[in-house]
Amino acid sequence: MDYISKKPLVGYNMIQNPKRYTVTAALIYANGPIHIGHLAGCYLPADIYVRYLRSTEKDVVFVSGTDEHGVPITIKAKKEGITPQQVVDKYYVQIKDSFEQFGISFDIYSRTSKKEHHDLSQQFFKTLYDKGVFNEEVTEQYFDEKANQFLADRYIMGTCPNCHNENAYGDQCEKCGSTLSPTELINPRSTLSGAKPVMRKTKNWYLPLDKMQPQIEAFVNSHPEWKTNVSGQCQSWLKQGLQPRAMTRDLDWGVKVPLADTDGKVLYVWFDAPIGYITFTKELLTVDSGQLAVKNPAILRDSTHNPQLTTHNWEPYWKDKETKLVHFIGKDNIVFHCIIFPAMLMAEGSYILPDNVPANEFMNLEGDKISTSRNWAVWLHEYLQEFPGKQDVLRYALCSNAPETKDNDFTWKDFQLRNNSELVAILGNFVNRALVLTQKYYDGKVPARVHLTDYDKQVLVELENFPAKIASSLELYRFREAQAEMMNLARLGNKYLADTEPWKLAKTDMGGVGSILNISLQITATLAIVMEPFLPFTAKRLNSFLNLESSFWSEAGKQNLLKVDHQLATPELLFDKIEDDVIEKQVLKLAESKKQNQLENTVVQPQKENVTFDDFQKMDIRIATILEAERVPKTDKLLKLKLDTGLDQRTVVSGIAKYYKPEEIIGKQVCLLANLAPRDIKGITSQGMILMAEDKDGSLSFVSPTVGISNGGSVA
Ligand code: MF3
Ligand code: ZN
Repeated sequence: MDYISKKPLVGYNMIQNPKRYTVTAALIYANGPIHIGHLAGCYLPADIYVRYLRSTEKDVVFVSGTDEHGVPITIKAKKEGITPQQVVDKYYVQIKDSFEQFGISFDIYSRTSKKEHHDLSQQFFKTLYDKGVFNEEVTEQYFDEKANQFLADRYIMGTCPNCHNENAYGDQCEKCGSTLSPTELINPRSTLSGAKPVMRKTKNWYLPLDKMQPQIEAFVNSHPEWKTNVSGQCQSWLKQGLQPRAMTRDLDWGVKVPLADTDGKVLYVWFDAPIGYITFTKELLTVDSGQLAVKNPAILRDSTHNPQLTTHNWEPYWKDKETKLVHFIGKDNIVFHCIIFPAMLMAEGSYILPDNVPANEFMNLEGDKISTSRNWAVWLHEYLQEFPGKQDVLRYALCSNAPETKDNDFTWKDFQLRNNSELVAILGNFVNRALVLTQKYYDGKVPARVHLTDYDKQVLVELENFPAKIASSLELYRFREAQAEMMNLARLGNKYLADTEPWKLAKTDMGGVGSILNISLQITATLAIVMEPFLPFTAKRLNSFLNLESSFWSEAGKQNLLKVDHQLATPELLFDKIEDDVIEKQVLKLAESKKQNQLENTVVQPQKENVTFDDFQKMDIRIATILEAERVPKTDKLLKLKLDTGLDQRTVVSGIAKYYKPEEIIGKQVCLLANLAPRDIKGITSQGMILMAEDKDGSLSFVSPTVGISNGGSVA
């Protein structure tokens, strides 16, 4: 197709006309359900890309699965009081199901706990070991003598050296955000037993990324076409200078280190996990998968019936230089896929390297970072319950707003707007009018084009150009742009019908009506093809209304995709409106979750240091009455109050505007710390401070006498 030659990227290391594609999507930790952030960041773009490749009849495998090793799994097991195996068994099924429900069309969705994967990762490790790639190093690590095990960073807590938060982790302080190493913690303690960990010597095997830096740099620099967010992170790692990284860990959950005397040691989870991409491809293609699919529930698409798959030998997908390997991931995985895994592959020597790693940034939710522990997320399994059959709406909204170049925000209002003013009002409306009018005037048979106006001809030309435009955006991983172009085709159709008004023309010129409907139906049929990567469920329904088998991309844009007299089926609406109350319910649910979190997370402050009675006596606290109250302009927290203190009338500025309206509090008696040194607040001199009681959620309330007290009465 000609858009390939138009790409501004010729001359780079990028593979120009790949023989086949290996597309991977990150192996998510099987330690929790999945939410919209996962979908938007990685799985949806991967699926759109793969569906497009399949539509262009490319030979492609789409591989993913769950990452079932590493500390995140063992932590979850501890928390739920079950074994790591039970954790991964539970979430593998749930995660796989959510992806299937949303139409993420993996060829295989497998798991790293399978024996085949353990075998291949061990073999990979052994190859590097035998080649002498690793540095063997003895270092001192924290050990818990009570629990009798070495402690992963996450299993050590202590006081942050930077902000003195007493609950900082060995790798990070969540309070001040600083990255730490366990030895920096003050008063470290084991989260397993509470014991004070001791230093103990241990041997591990390191990948000498420092020595490999020149090759890795050459590799990264050979890909100037990578997205800026991806290149940016790579360059920053390279600039800091790569450090050797341990590829084994002292942990009892994972792939055993395949060397003698390594009890209690496993491969680093970031060593084995990406090898999973290879294992799963092998699992999909080694054996006769036609038969295997029956027995192996991980295989989702029966490749023997997939005309695109030219061979069932897995090796070309990982070893042939003409294979284009693309890793879809979220931004937190960039260094592993652009530096560490390629370094492993280079050291091994027999594999190809990724051609592209189109990582997305993060999707936030209603202005806040998505967080599992704070339950700030839209969970896919909950969405499915609340919006049954509306998977495509979420796909559409997420892609419209995909965090392709920067973090983006998902809001329920935007979701509603995308549905109501784009899917319903443009795409659904156009398709429905084309189909219903054809039923009305031609009993659902495609009419012929008789005489064409200049406008008709122009629309046909525009139609023809759309598929290439959409494709060229897809090839460059610009999925938002591609989806917007797809929508523009529906816009073209909508405008065409609105301008030509066939329902009016029907009174005078049925030939003209036939031409208009024919062209509208050709647009509709092309839409069914080009929408499929984005809206697969809708495309399927549309094809059934059109009474068409799904067609390949090469058919899209053609003028006679639907033959004259072809019988259409009875149409239904593609989308329906989402009402305000439905959206409000979701917004309320989130607000509820936020409140819940605040309550759970506020701890009662520990008692302060003792003071003497004399200290206390120094404070002049007395009863005062609020005489006047007004908002301080340009602030949303402050009220300016005038108080009668019994001594005088004075001005106090107080941060209570969120909790009290000025008119409500006039006449109220409050406690005033009268001898607090005057301060200037927003240009107003505040002479004292009103005592407030603070609730767990941060809300404030006056501390007032329960009976009237004379102004100036002392509080002691
Ligand atoms: N489990 C990792 C995460 O959820 C991703 C692993 S991707 C792979 O962040 F390459 F290692 F497989
Ligand atoms: Zn800190």
